[in-house]
Amino acid sequence: MQKFIVTGGKRLRGELRLQGSKNSSLPIIAAAMLCSDECVLKNCPRITDVYAASRILNCTGCKCSFSGNTAVTDSRCMNNNEIPENLMSEMRSSIIFMGAMLGRCGECNVSIPGGCELGPRPIDMHLAALRKMGADIREEMGRIRCRATGKRLHGARISLAFPSVGATENIILSAAAADGETIINNAAREPEICDLCGFLRKCGADISGDGESRIVVNGREKLHGCEYTVMPDRIAGATYLSMAAASGGEIILTNACVSEMEPFLSVLEQTGCSISADENTIYLRNGSRLKAVGDRIRTMPHPGFPTDAQAVLMSALLKAEGTSVFEENIFDCRYRHTDAFMKMGADIQVMGKIAVIKGVKRIYGTSADATDLRGGAAMISAALSAEGTSEIGSIYHIDRGYENIEKAVRLLGGDMQRVGM
Ligand code: EPZ
Repeated sequence: MQKFIVTGGKRLRGELRLQGSKNSSLPIIAAAMLCSDECVLKNCPRITDVYAASRILNCTGCKCSFSGNTAVTDSRCMNNNEIPENLMSEMRSSIIFMGAMLGRCGECNVSIPGGCELGPRPIDMHLAALRKMGADIREEMGRIRCRATGKRLHGARISLAFPSVGATENIILSAAAADGETIINNAAREPEICDLCGFLRKCGADISGDGESRIVVNGREKLHGCEYTVMPDRIAGATYLSMAAASGGEIILTNACVSEMEPFLSVLEQTGCSISADENTIYLRNGSRLKAVGDRIRTMPHPGFPTDAQAVLMSALLKAEGTSVFEENIFDCRYRHTDAFMKMGADIQVMGKIAVIKGVKRIYGTSADATDLRGGAAMISAALSAEGTSEIGSIYHIDRGYENIEKAVRLLGGDMQRVGM
């Protein structure tokens, strides 16, 4: 199994171009299924989740191939609406192919995605919404069989109990090709939703209100292909900025989506590092010991503080002066990375959704396995500011969402190797 070997003590310095967004690429690759001809998707990150999404597309008869960071899809020859368990289970978010297939051909047969490292991942809101749009949905033996009761799904007024990103995406994907108008109230407002809608509009879809809580979609019989550039990955951006802040470094992040990163940047600024930015570039400099964040850091749906940045920001606060308090409001088990942090000498108390981080003067390298995607990236970040060397295993979690993370860290002067087969 491969591992990362990380030796701490170096201040990160240099310039890094930010990768494309995982959480935008995945729904856009699914959306390409709705298009009657070729799509060219630029700035796709080369990560295992994107390759898993392309395997799903290929198994339905659609084509999806890569050249560098450009994916080319062609859904003209779609001939199968059944996704096997082995492909569905490669990543949880494969459930959004349900909406795309229902939009494209009015039926699909997929697996119920299990829970994951972050806890149970229910899809009740996805299913309730699709039923309102006229889908007959049967769950049996871990599989979900859906079929539009009419020729196509029809529009509906849907109010989400929680602004679920995945449920919002699934509704948009099926509504874009449904018969009539769909209104989504309490829709997720994440930037990746806007990116998905930007792609669909370029394909001829009639969608408005994305980025706000009320999205209106008027279905179209057919969507054509287009060329589209995926937005930068705001969580990867938060990750590299946290690494630089934790190591007392100075970095320039280019191709960043600054305005979409505001909820994270406004908290990072409270640690005392100096941050300046223009439209697509962020300059971070931190010459001294970080300060603890005074206000409680509450993870919330966008435009609140992103849950995906919780672990990486925590890694930067392990040696901060003072005590920081996190409140994880989105997922049940999103503090699994704290075990590794405590092995490194961090002073952390976890009580349910609260984690109290009392800054210590030093943390030390250790051996630990990545627990999940963002927790694993946070372990790298902590190891870069620890004394000594760390070994991080189960790095397949990290490869799901970060393109060549060891190359990016080395580019910034960090000491990090990938070893093993
Ligand atoms: C997306 O997951 C992201 N994944 C997650 O990023 C991110 O953490 C999450 O949104 C929140 O921002 C992708 O975009 C691929 P949700 P998703 O539906 O869609 C509950 C990463 O690290 N819920 O907004 O699964 C659910 O259990 C990943 O890149 C229901 O109860 O998130 C969770 O507690 C991790 N019923 C909360 O809502 C439902 O039907 C938020 O889930 C759906 C969701």
